[in-house]
Amino acid sequence: MSDLLRRLLFLPPAASQHARDVDSLHFFVVITTMLAGLAIFGTALAFMIRYRRRGEDDRTPEIQPRHWHEALFIGVPLAFFLVWFAIGYPQFVESTRAPPGAMDVFVMGKQWMWKFAYPGGPSSLDELRVPAGRPVRLLITSRDVIHSFFVPDLRLKQDALPGRYTETWFQADAPGRHQIFCAEYCGLSHSGMLAELVVMKPEEFDAWIALQRRGLARAQDAAAVPGDLLAAGSSLVEQGRNVAAVQGCLKCHSIDGSRHIGPTWRDLYRRRERLSTGAVVTADEAYLTRSMMDPAAEIVDGYQNVMPTYQGKLTPPEVAAVVEFIKSLKTPAVRAGPSEGPVYESTPGR
Ligand code: CUA
Repeated sequence: MSDLLRRLLFLPPAASQHARDVDSLHFFVVITTMLAGLAIFGTALAFMIRYRRRGEDDRTPEIQPRHWHEALFIGVPLAFFLVWFAIGYPQFVESTRAPPGAMDVFVMGKQWMWKFAYPGGPSSLDELRVPAGRPVRLLITSRDVIHSFFVPDLRLKQDALPGRYTETWFQADAPGRHQIFCAEYCGLSHSGMLAELVVMKPEEFDAWIALQRRGLARAQDAAAVPGDLLAAGSSLVEQGRNVAAVQGCLKCHSIDGSRHIGPTWRDLYRRRERLSTGAVVTADEAYLTRSMMDPAAEIVDGYQNVMPTYQGKLTPPEVAAVVEFIKSLKTPAVRAGPSEGPVYESTPGR
Protein backbone atom coordinates (compact mmCIF):
# COMPACT_ATOMS: atom_id res chain seq x y z
CA MET A 1 0.00 0.00 0.00
CA SER A 2 2.62 2.53 1.06
CA ASP A 3 4.84 1.32 -1.78
CA LEU A 4 2.04 2.03 -4.27
CA LEU A 5 1.55 5.51 -2.81
CA ARG A 6 5.27 6.13 -2.93
CA ARG A 7 5.30 5.31 -6.64
CA LEU A 8 2.20 7.42 -7.29
CA LEU A 9 3.93 10.39 -5.65
CA PHE A 10 7.23 9.77 -7.53
CA LEU A 11 9.20 9.34 -4.31
CA PRO A 12 12.46 7.35 -4.32
CA PRO A 13 12.69 4.26 -2.08
CA ALA A 14 13.10 5.16 1.59
CA ALA A 15 16.54 4.32 2.97
CA SER A 16 16.00 4.88 6.69
CA GLN A 17 13.36 4.58 9.40
CA HIS A 18 13.09 8.37 9.46
CA ALA A 19 12.36 8.35 5.73
CA ARG A 20 9.58 5.81 6.23
CA ASP A 21 8.12 7.88 9.09
CA VAL A 22 8.15 11.00 6.93
CA ASP A 23 6.44 9.05 4.16
CA SER A 24 3.74 7.78 6.52
CA LEU A 25 2.94 11.33 7.59
CA HIS A 26 3.08 12.50 3.99
CA PHE A 27 0.67 9.77 2.85
CA PHE A 28 -1.65 10.39 5.78
CA VAL A 29 -1.82 14.12 5.00
CA VAL A 30 -2.36 13.48 1.29
CA ILE A 31 -5.08 10.88 1.92
CA THR A 32 -6.99 12.90 4.52
CA THR A 33 -6.90 16.10 2.45
CA MET A 34 -8.06 14.21 -0.64
CA LEU A 35 -10.89 12.53 1.28
CA ALA A 36 -11.92 15.83 2.84
CA GLY A 37 -11.76 17.50 -0.58
CA LEU A 38 -13.95 14.77 -2.08
CA ALA A 39 -16.44 15.06 0.80
CA ILE A 40 -16.72 18.82 0.34
CA PHE A 41 -17.06 18.50 -3.42
CA GLY A 42 -19.69 15.73 -3.02
CA THR A 43 -21.70 17.74 -0.49
CA ALA A 44 -21.64 20.81 -2.72
CA LEU A 45 -22.86 18.71 -5.66
CA ALA A 46 -25.64 17.11 -3.61
CA PHE A 47 -26.77 20.52 -2.32
CA MET A 48 -26.76 21.98 -5.82
CA ILE A 49 -29.14 19.27 -6.98
CA ARG A 50 -31.31 18.95 -3.86
CA TYR A 51 -31.79 22.67 -3.22
CA ARG A 52 -31.81 23.93 -6.80
CA ARG A 53 -34.24 26.72 -7.73
CA ARG A 54 -37.41 25.07 -8.95
CA GLY A 55 -39.50 28.05 -10.11
CA GLU A 56 -39.71 31.81 -10.49
CA ASP A 57 -41.18 32.33 -7.00
CA ASP A 58 -39.04 29.69 -5.26
CA ARG A 59 -37.49 31.59 -2.35
CA THR A 60 -34.72 30.34 -0.11
CA PRO A 61 -35.75 30.28 3.56
CA GLU A 62 -33.35 31.79 6.03
CA ILE A 63 -31.66 29.01 8.00
CA GLN A 64 -29.93 29.57 11.30
CA PRO A 65 -27.14 27.00 11.88
CA ARG A 66 -27.31 25.18 15.16
CA HIS A 67 -24.46 25.14 17.64
CA TRP A 68 -23.48 21.58 16.82
CA HIS A 69 -23.17 22.56 13.14
CA GLU A 70 -20.67 25.20 14.14
CA ALA A 71 -18.82 22.80 16.42
CA LEU A 72 -18.60 20.27 13.60
CA PHE A 73 -17.31 22.85 11.11
CA ILE A 74 -14.49 23.88 13.41
CA GLY A 75 -13.95 20.59 15.21
CA VAL A 76 -13.41 18.22 12.28
CA PRO A 77 -10.61 20.19 10.56
CA LEU A 78 -9.08 20.91 13.96
CA ALA A 79 -9.10 17.20 14.78
CA PHE A 80 -7.31 16.43 11.52
CA PHE A 81 -4.76 19.13 12.21
CA LEU A 82 -4.16 17.80 15.72
CA VAL A 83 -3.63 14.28 14.39
CA TRP A 84 -1.07 15.55 11.87
CA PHE A 85 0.62 17.49 14.62
CA ALA A 86 0.64 14.47 16.93
CA ILE A 87 2.37 12.42 14.24
CA GLY A 88 4.63 15.12 12.85
CA TYR A 89 5.90 16.96 15.90
CA PRO A 90 7.54 13.95 17.60
CA GLN A 91 9.11 13.15 14.20
CA PHE A 92 10.50 16.66 14.01
CA VAL A 93 11.90 16.49 17.54
CA GLU A 94 13.37 13.09 16.82
CA SER A 95 14.99 14.36 13.62
CA THR A 96 16.74 17.21 15.44
CA ARG A 97 18.17 15.18 18.33
CA ALA A 98 20.90 12.73 17.45
CA PRO A 99 21.05 9.69 19.75
CA PRO A 100 24.06 9.68 22.07
CA GLY A 101 27.01 7.86 20.56
CA ALA A 102 26.29 9.03 17.02
CA MET A 103 29.34 9.48 14.81
CA ASP A 104 29.98 13.16 14.06
CA VAL A 105 30.77 14.21 10.52
CA PHE A 106 31.51 17.82 9.67
CA VAL A 107 29.93 18.87 6.40
CA MET A 108 31.03 21.99 4.56
CA GLY A 109 29.18 23.35 1.57
CA LYS A 110 31.19 25.50 -0.79
CA GLN A 111 30.62 26.74 -4.31
CA TRP A 112 30.17 24.11 -5.64
CA MET A 113 31.09 21.03 -3.70
CA TRP A 114 30.50 19.20 -0.46
CA LYS A 115 33.38 18.47 1.87
CA PHE A 116 33.17 15.93 4.69
CA ALA A 117 35.51 15.64 7.68
CA TYR A 118 35.42 12.53 9.84
CA PRO A 119 36.37 11.97 13.47
CA GLY A 120 40.14 11.75 13.76
CA GLY A 121 40.88 14.02 10.82
CA PRO A 122 40.24 12.21 7.52
CA SER A 123 38.19 14.11 5.01
CA SER A 124 36.61 13.52 1.64
CA LEU A 125 35.23 15.57 -1.18
CA ASP A 126 31.79 15.00 -2.70
CA GLU A 127 31.59 11.57 -1.12
CA LEU A 128 30.19 10.87 2.32
CA ARG A 129 30.95 7.41 3.65
CA VAL A 130 28.99 6.11 6.61
CA PRO A 131 28.36 2.75 8.26
CA ALA A 132 24.94 1.09 7.86
CA GLY A 133 22.77 0.74 10.94
CA ARG A 134 24.66 3.29 13.04
CA PRO A 135 23.53 6.86 13.77
CA VAL A 136 25.51 9.61 12.06
CA ARG A 137 25.26 13.22 13.15
CA LEU A 138 26.00 15.90 10.58
CA LEU A 139 27.33 19.30 11.62
CA ILE A 140 26.77 21.43 8.57
CA THR A 141 28.23 24.78 7.61
CA SER A 142 29.09 26.76 4.50
CA ARG A 143 32.26 28.53 3.46
CA ASP A 144 30.53 31.07 1.22
CA VAL A 145 26.80 31.32 0.57
CA ILE A 146 23.72 29.43 1.77
CA HIS A 147 23.55 25.88 0.50
CA SER A 148 21.21 23.08 1.53
CA PHE A 149 22.24 19.50 2.17
CA PHE A 150 19.59 17.25 0.64
CA VAL A 151 19.40 13.45 0.49
CA PRO A 152 16.04 12.49 -1.05
CA ASP A 153 16.40 8.79 -0.18
CA LEU A 154 16.72 9.71 3.51
CA ARG A 155 14.04 12.45 3.31
CA LEU A 156 16.72 14.66 4.85
CA LYS A 157 17.24 18.33 4.07
CA GLN A 158 19.19 20.87 6.12
CA ASP A 159 20.47 24.32 5.23
CA ALA A 160 24.20 25.03 5.27
CA LEU A 161 24.73 28.56 6.54
CA PRO A 162 27.99 30.52 6.43
CA GLY A 163 29.30 31.30 9.91
CA ARG A 164 26.94 28.90 11.61
CA TYR A 165 26.58 25.17 12.21
CA THR A 166 23.29 23.43 11.64
CA GLU A 167 22.70 19.90 12.77
CA THR A 168 20.84 16.84 11.63
CA TRP A 169 21.30 13.10 11.83
CA PHE A 170 20.31 9.87 10.14
CA GLN A 171 20.76 6.14 10.34
CA ALA A 172 20.89 4.39 7.00
CA ASP A 173 19.35 0.91 6.79
CA ALA A 174 21.67 -0.96 4.51
CA PRO A 175 24.78 -0.62 2.36
CA GLY A 176 24.16 1.26 -0.86
CA ARG A 177 24.63 4.54 -2.67
CA HIS A 178 22.43 7.61 -2.48
CA GLN A 179 22.49 10.92 -4.30
CA ILE A 180 23.20 14.10 -2.36
CA PHE A 181 21.97 17.41 -3.81
CA CYS A 182 22.26 21.06 -2.97
CA ALA A 183 18.70 22.32 -2.51
CA GLU A 184 19.33 26.05 -2.20
CA TYR A 185 20.12 28.08 -5.30
CA CYS A 186 23.73 29.14 -4.70
CA GLY A 187 25.13 30.33 -8.02
CA LEU A 188 26.06 29.22 -11.50
CA SER A 189 26.87 25.58 -10.78
CA HIS A 190 24.18 25.01 -8.16
CA SER A 191 22.74 22.15 -10.21
CA GLY A 192 26.16 20.52 -10.36
CA MET A 193 26.74 20.69 -6.62
CA LEU A 194 26.32 16.96 -6.22
CA ALA A 195 27.79 14.40 -3.90
CA GLU A 196 27.25 10.77 -3.10
CA LEU A 197 26.34 9.09 0.14
CA VAL A 198 28.06 5.70 0.33
CA VAL A 199 26.63 3.47 3.04
CA MET A 200 29.09 0.70 3.88
CA LYS A 201 28.92 -2.46 5.97
CA PRO A 202 29.96 -1.39 9.49
CA GLU A 203 33.10 -3.54 9.52
CA GLU A 204 34.11 -2.27 6.06
CA PHE A 205 33.60 1.29 7.21
CA ASP A 206 35.75 0.70 10.31
CA ALA A 207 38.52 -0.67 8.11
CA TRP A 208 38.19 2.25 5.69
CA ILE A 209 38.33 4.95 8.36
CA ALA A 210 41.29 3.25 10.06
CA LEU A 211 43.10 3.25 6.71
CA GLN A 212 42.30 6.94 6.19
CA ARG A 213 43.62 7.80 9.64
CA ARG A 214 46.83 5.85 9.07
CA GLY A 215 47.39 7.62 5.75
CA LEU A 216 46.81 10.94 7.45
CA ALA A 217 49.23 10.11 10.25
CA ARG A 218 51.86 9.11 7.67
CA ALA A 219 51.38 12.36 5.78
CA GLN A 220 51.76 14.28 9.03
CA ASP A 221 54.89 12.29 9.95
CA ALA A 222 56.39 12.97 6.53
CA ALA A 223 55.49 16.60 6.91
CA ALA A 224 57.22 16.74 10.28
CA VAL A 225 60.60 15.83 8.73
CA PRO A 226 61.39 19.03 6.80
CA GLY A 227 59.85 21.23 9.45
CA ASP A 228 56.18 21.50 10.32
CA LEU A 229 54.35 22.23 7.07
CA LEU A 230 51.58 24.11 8.78
CA ALA A 231 53.72 25.62 11.51
CA ALA A 232 51.97 28.29 13.48
CA GLY A 233 53.25 31.74 12.69
CA SER A 234 54.24 31.12 9.08
CA SER A 235 51.89 32.63 6.53
CA LEU A 236 49.43 30.51 4.61
CA VAL A 237 51.41 31.23 1.43
CA GLU A 238 54.63 30.00 3.05
CA GLN A 239 52.86 26.90 4.30
CA GLY A 240 51.50 26.29 0.82
CA ARG A 241 55.02 26.55 -0.65
CA ASN A 242 56.24 23.94 1.86
CA VAL A 243 53.34 21.59 1.19
CA ALA A 244 53.84 21.90 -2.58
CA ALA A 245 57.56 21.17 -2.23
CA VAL A 246 57.16 18.18 0.07
CA GLN A 247 54.24 16.67 -1.82
CA GLY A 248 56.14 16.87 -5.10
CA CYS A 249 53.82 19.35 -6.85
CA LEU A 250 56.79 21.45 -7.97
CA LYS A 251 58.37 18.52 -9.79
CA CYS A 252 55.73 18.95 -12.50
CA HIS A 253 54.42 22.49 -12.08
CA SER A 254 56.84 25.39 -12.52
CA ILE A 255 56.31 28.62 -10.63
CA ASP A 256 58.23 30.85 -13.07
CA GLY A 257 55.90 30.53 -16.06
CA SER A 258 57.88 27.89 -17.94
CA ARG A 259 56.12 24.90 -19.44
CA HIS A 260 56.75 21.57 -17.72
CA ILE A 261 54.92 18.26 -17.23
CA GLY A 262 51.93 20.18 -15.89
CA PRO A 263 50.71 23.75 -16.48
CA THR A 264 52.74 26.43 -14.72
CA TRP A 265 51.38 27.89 -11.51
CA ARG A 266 52.57 31.40 -12.39
CA ASP A 267 49.48 33.53 -13.07
CA LEU A 268 47.35 30.40 -12.92
CA TYR A 269 44.81 31.81 -10.52
CA ARG A 270 41.77 33.13 -12.45
CA ARG A 271 43.40 32.16 -15.74
CA ARG A 272 40.99 30.92 -18.40
CA GLU A 273 42.10 27.36 -19.16
CA ARG A 274 41.09 25.46 -22.26
CA LEU A 275 40.47 21.80 -21.44
CA SER A 276 41.05 18.76 -23.63
CA THR A 277 37.27 18.60 -24.05
CA GLY A 278 37.24 22.06 -25.60
CA ALA A 279 35.51 23.60 -22.60
CA VAL A 280 37.01 26.69 -21.00
CA VAL A 281 37.18 27.03 -17.23
CA THR A 282 38.37 29.73 -14.89
CA ALA A 283 41.08 28.53 -12.53
CA ASP A 284 39.40 29.71 -9.33
CA GLU A 285 39.65 28.15 -5.86
CA ALA A 286 37.06 25.52 -6.72
CA TYR A 287 38.88 24.50 -9.91
CA LEU A 288 42.25 24.34 -8.16
CA THR A 289 40.83 22.24 -5.32
CA ARG A 290 39.09 19.96 -7.81
CA SER A 291 42.27 19.56 -9.82
CA MET A 292 44.09 18.32 -6.75
CA MET A 293 41.35 15.90 -5.75
CA ASP A 294 40.33 14.62 -9.19
CA PRO A 295 43.02 15.63 -11.69
CA ALA A 296 41.76 13.34 -14.44
CA ALA A 297 38.38 15.06 -14.59
CA GLU A 298 39.63 18.25 -16.25
CA ILE A 299 42.80 17.94 -18.29
CA VAL A 300 44.21 21.18 -19.65
CA ASP A 301 44.55 21.02 -23.44
CA GLY A 302 48.00 19.90 -24.55
CA TYR A 303 48.91 18.09 -21.33
CA GLN A 304 48.93 14.41 -20.42
CA ASN A 305 46.76 12.81 -17.77
CA VAL A 306 49.64 11.86 -15.46
CA MET A 307 48.84 13.57 -12.18
CA PRO A 308 47.88 11.36 -9.22
CA THR A 309 44.97 12.34 -7.00
CA TYR A 310 45.78 14.11 -3.76
CA GLN A 311 42.50 13.16 -2.18
CA GLY A 312 43.32 11.85 1.29
CA LYS A 313 46.96 12.94 0.92
CA LEU A 314 46.30 16.59 1.68
CA THR A 315 44.30 17.77 4.66
CA PRO A 316 41.77 20.57 4.02
CA PRO A 317 44.06 23.21 5.61
CA GLU A 318 46.92 22.02 3.40
CA VAL A 319 44.72 22.30 0.32
CA ALA A 320 43.78 25.83 1.38
CA ALA A 321 47.49 26.64 1.85
CA VAL A 322 48.44 25.35 -1.61
CA VAL A 323 45.60 27.35 -3.18
CA GLU A 324 46.81 30.47 -1.39
CA PHE A 325 50.34 29.81 -2.62
CA ILE A 326 49.12 29.50 -6.22
CA LYS A 327 47.11 32.72 -5.80
CA SER A 328 50.27 34.49 -4.63
CA LEU A 329 52.14 33.61 -7.87
CA LYS A 330 51.00 36.67 -9.81
CA THR A 331 53.15 38.58 -12.20
CA PRO A 332 52.60 42.20 -11.12
CA ALA A 333 52.33 43.53 -14.73
CA VAL A 334 49.26 41.45 -15.58
CA ARG A 335 47.70 41.84 -12.19
CA ALA A 336 45.02 44.28 -13.34
CA GLY A 337 42.80 41.62 -14.86
CA PRO A 338 39.17 42.62 -15.35
CA SER A 339 38.11 39.02 -14.96
CA GLU A 340 36.84 39.16 -11.40
CA GLY A 341 33.75 37.23 -12.31
CA PRO A 342 31.43 35.78 -9.66
CA VAL A 343 29.71 38.10 -7.25
CA TYR A 344 30.28 35.72 -4.38
CA GLU A 345 34.00 35.71 -3.86
CA SER A 346 35.38 33.73 -0.99
CA THR A 347 38.73 33.70 0.65
CA PRO A 348 39.83 30.30 1.86
CA GLY A 349 39.27 30.38 5.59
CA ARG A 350 41.61 28.82 8.02
CU1 CUA B 1 25.01 24.93 -3.17
CU2 CUA B 1 23.04 25.22 -4.45
